[in-house]
Amino acid sequence: MEKPRLLTGDTPTGKLHLGHWVGSVENRVAMQKEYDCYFILANMQAFTTHINHPSEVRQHVFDVTLDYLAAGIDPNLSTIFIQSEVPAIAELTFLFSMMVSYSRVMRNPTLKDEIRDKGLGDHYSFGFVLYPISQIADILAFRPDVVPVGEDQLPHLELATEVARRFNILYCNVDPHVSDEAMTQAGGLFPVVKSKLGKVKRLVGLGGPNAQGQLCKMSKSLNNAIYLSDDNDTVYQKVMSIYTDPQRVRATDPGKIDNNPLWIFHDAFNPDLAWIQEAKEKYQHGKIGDVECKKKLAEAIISLLQPMQERRKQYKNDKDSVLEILKKGTIRANVLAENTLSLVKEKVSQDYFSREITYK
Ligand code: TRP
Repeated sequence: MEKPRLLTGDTPTGKLHLGHWVGSVENRVAMQKEYDCYFILANMQAFTTHINHPSEVRQHVFDVTLDYLAAGIDPNLSTIFIQSEVPAIAELTFLFSMMVSYSRVMRNPTLKDEIRDKGLGDHYSFGFVLYPISQIADILAFRPDVVPVGEDQLPHLELATEVARRFNILYCNVDPHVSDEAMTQAGGLFPVVKSKLGKVKRLVGLGGPNAQGQLCKMSKSLNNAIYLSDDNDTVYQKVMSIYTDPQRVRATDPGKIDNNPLWIFHDAFNPDLAWIQEAKEKYQHGKIGDVECKKKLAEAIISLLQPMQERRKQYKNDKDSVLEILKKGTIRANVLAENTLSLVKEKVSQDYFSREITYK
């Protein structure tokens, strides 16, 4: 029996950090035996912000691949591939872009947040607003059963669902009353994809609250991240720098647990639940110091990253074998994406010739 299919991926704009791990990568590693997994390196999507830095994008393609391999994604089980080397994705983007209204794209909350957070004003490129459409082409080209992502990606999946439904109704004679689950059974080409969120939907960063009193999410641009590639000393120093309430006076105003990055991290990364429970109790009564709790946390994170460091060593100085993994993955990805594209062309009556993608 064929395995169900999984697709997800990353925009290569930096190395992967602990937020990526708990948000999605951990799920991917755990699911790769039961699912036929496809992991996309969305290098063209990276150009939405890196148009002036092409060689950085290239470097990050390798960095993220190395992070995947280090994290435990097995290239013999899973397919890691490069977006721009799968032409069917660009072609589907063109078609899908005509199936969504411009105002629908602009209502996407993730797009709006990015425009605000990156201070883009009205200077964003046309390609920037096109990227949610290209992301649904990334997804639908593989007709996956499940897409594990962080919470911020859900609006894109919603759009993928809308386009899948629209395509199935318009071009596959599917009755508009058919439920999402029954779409393919009813003759639809595209499944309505299911999302899968990680253990921690939005991991906070190492810093304290912002001016609005909110904890920021872990991100490269906020310089508040622990990377999967950080060595033990770096992890230790970063953990020691985690924000703890400066107002806290152990005897008179003991620590809070809620919304405290120290404890959010313990809950996310320390497998010793009994220790956590006891320490939280003490912390609230001012009976345990920050340093002790941070040391414990550093140990937990270091032992999570330890096996990753071992696997990383294997590939680190061997760019050729990393490139070979990407090439094999890209060839495999093209087989499936080309198949989807030819079915799409048939459905939209634009099937004139057949073709084959080859790599030398
Ligand atoms: N936008 C995603 C991110 O920045 C990366 C991505 C691109 C993706 N294409 C995808 C994720 C398809 C899931 C499915 O993290």
